[in-house]
Amino acid sequence: MGCTRSVEMTRHVNVASYVAQQRDQAGKESKLIKDFSVFDFHHIPEEPVVRDECKTLIDEMVRFEVSGIPTHHAVIGSRGSGKTLTVKYLQRVVPEHAELDVVYANCRHHSTTYKILARLVGVQPRGASLAELFERFCSMHPKKTVVVLDEIDLMSPKDRRREILYLLSRSAQPYMVVMLSNSPQLLKELDAATRSSLQPVPLHFRNYNAGQIQEILRDRAQRGLHAWEEGTLSEIAALTTRLTNSDARLAIKTLQYTIMGRGKDLRSCFERARRDLVIDVISDLSDSTLMILWATATSKVSFAKKIYERYCRFSRQHREKPFSYGYFYSNLSHLQSIGLIALVCTKQGRTYANRVVLTFDAATATKICALRFEQ
Ligand SMILES: Nc1ncnc2c1ncn2[C@@H]1O[C@H](COP(=O)(O)OP(=O)(O)OP(=O)(O)O)[C@@H](O)[C@H]1O
Ligand SMILES: [Mg+2]
Repeated sequence: MGCTRSVEMTRHVNVASYVAQQRDQAGKESKLIKDFSVFDFHHIPEEPVVRDECKTLIDEMVRFEVSGIPTHHAVIGSRGSGKTLTVKYLQRVVPEHAELDVVYANCRHHSTTYKILARLVGVQPRGASLAELFERFCSMHPKKTVVVLDEIDLMSPKDRRREILYLLSRSAQPYMVVMLSNSPQLLKELDAATRSSLQPVPLHFRNYNAGQIQEILRDRAQRGLHAWEEGTLSEIAALTTRLTNSDARLAIKTLQYTIMGRGKDLRSCFERARRDLVIDVISDLSDSTLMILWATATSKVSFAKKIYERYCRFSRQHREKPFSYGYFYSNLSHLQSIGLIALVCTKQGRTYANRVVLTFDAATATKICALRFEQ
């Protein structure tokens, strides 16, 4: 009994001193940081770093306002290239200066036409018919309206034709669609009828260069920190552009870890940020895409055809019907566009074959996959 109590006491004392130590550390950090929200990925700066492609979108919106004739756009760019931030910023600013409404829905969270419309109309996604919901949407937005559909490639396979695009492009009312995606395959994957009535113009967001990333970091530092070194910002920007697809999130998280890093060197803060973001991205994948990643991570051979066979076996073991090779391959392209794999074309004898290379530690992928599938 005495022994148990002494263990409890020890635990108690340790926890108490640990709390004190952590509070002390948090106190030191809060002296360095004046506004923690600059590290929040949903934070929209008052004046974000404006990229050239943003001006193109503004030009197109203004043209739509003046002429009433919409040109629909597919904004395509890799992870962290500022797509969501740009449209959210325009949603805030444009209606203040132009006779336009801008509405936004994220297809990751509202994955069918029905759910998107329910969200835009502000009702629960049940009860009304699709036609009724669209009618309500039209009566709520009688004036020229830009409809932003973020992460459009994540719409559910149940709505493979992406009905919403068809409805908006065929409407008698003036609607301009701006869809965002990090998949370069997006336009190819659109249903032919939708593509022909929508005629979307692709707008590519180039990867940020080191100067732009540094500018984004400086802006956060100016607003959120009491003190910082310009050299640290330029080093983070250089690592982000040299070793990844210039994901601004990675740069911001590295800056956060550097400030809160308790003496850790910049390179290890960068690696930790990279690991944490990879875990977030993998955890967000759908079951089928994760299964493809699993087959890739555990395959001894890296040829796409062999990985496909492995994926088909996994799917059947889990009582899932595997995708066709074509659909499997477009999932690989998606995994490439979010930076988890690289597709490399190599010569094999007289022909060429595609190899799939993981861009991060295979053990991370297998751990997350095991958690999801091996229950
Ligand atoms: N031009 C910019 N100015 C200031 N902050 C930026 C800029 N571009 C990106 N950021 C910041 O970087 C992070 C990632 O940007 P954003 O979410 O817009 O990327 P994305 O292209 O939508 O990525 P994903 O494809 O993963 O959705 C956000 O925290 C955003 O605030
Ligand atoms: Mg986004």
